[in-house]
Amino acid sequence: EQIEKGGYDHFMLKEIHEQPSAIFDTFRGRLLSDKGIIKMSGVEDNMKRFLNADRIIIVACGTSWHAGLVAEYIFEDLARIPVEVEYASEFRYRNPVIYEKDVVIAISQSGETADTLAAIKLAKSKGAFVFGVCNVVGSTIARETDAGAYTHAGPEIGVASTKAFTTQITVLTLIALRLARAKGTISSSDYRLQLLELELIPDKVKKALESDDLVKSIAAIYKDAPNMLYLGRGFNFPVALEGALKLKEISYIHAEGYPAAEMKHGPIALIDENMPIIVIATKKGHYEKVVSNIQEIKSRKGKIIGIVTEGDEQVRALADHVIEVPESLESLSPLLTTIPLQLLSYHIALMLGRNVDQPRNLAKAVTVE
Ligand code: AGP
Repeated sequence: EQIEKGGYDHFMLKEIHEQPSAIFDTFRGRLLSDKGIIKMSGVEDNMKRFLNADRIIIVACGTSWHAGLVAEYIFEDLARIPVEVEYASEFRYRNPVIYEKDVVIAISQSGETADTLAAIKLAKSKGAFVFGVCNVVGSTIARETDAGAYTHAGPEIGVASTKAFTTQITVLTLIALRLARAKGTISSSDYRLQLLELELIPDKVKKALESDDLVKSIAAIYKDAPNMLYLGRGFNFPVALEGALKLKEISYIHAEGYPAAEMKHGPIALIDENMPIIVIATKKGHYEKVVSNIQEIKSRKGKIIGIVTEGDEQVRALADHVIEVPESLESLSPLLTTIPLQLLSYHIALMLGRNVDQPRNLAKAVTVE
């Protein structure tokens, strides 16, 4: 097992650090930026089905559902296709309206999640086209779907999903860009920019990983907090949900993710000097609005940990701590902002003596209801 961990103390830490190469492997051979094209046979072979669809329904659970939420923002923004993101466990039982023209994308790291599989079967029985985004090659979901694209993240052993999340977002970004090009909803210059920026992501993730020592020192300050709040807007709202899920899973600290603007509709009542609040405040994502959310937190004495773009000064002046990530396109920023949140939950869990790789009550693949 020590050999499998490749010199890291835990699989989770190894998998966090594998993300630069995992993301690279995900777009390798698919993103041909010199030719300005994206090649994915599962999409190409079924282009008519994709272009004929009036909407996309994404079904998934847990972290994969969060990747689906990021994809909703990306598909709607780039490809102008309406997207609904569903918890597979709700979708399968609520007699949903499914049309033959619908494209259903099922996202699953393991490819064995019972609820996601049942949602796929339901969608297929109504004649929808079902596309799988799985990590485990040959898994049940990969076999049951009409077509698909693997994430190529390599085995993920830690129960808390890390590299599966970022590679799912990478695959879904490639699909959205390919469809945007086919539909003409993106200009050729924006398209080229997206491809070039996506190619830079592995190096930028490497850079984001350099915040490890800083994140560790912040973890030491807040490890005994009973609650934490994670806030983000736009593309980074789902990252806030994912950050909170990571913390809950492995540290057993109660955490909630919220869209930053929703704070004033309830969670603001929780804020006092004992509440650590992680705010994703990158430069391009409604920055000024997030800054005013941060001011509201500060006036209520909440402890602010800002996830900011390199060189940021405005949030630095307000927050108790800032963790910088490299600048990128707004739609690609979740691939970077999620890194310090993974590290934060890892270090807190470790300091609390938790079983990081196998947290209590959780299984890597939930194959029963
Ligand atoms: C993630 O950290 C969790 N362990 C869990 O939410 C997981 O993402 C969920 O069970 C879905 O699994 P899947 O991607 O294998 O379908």
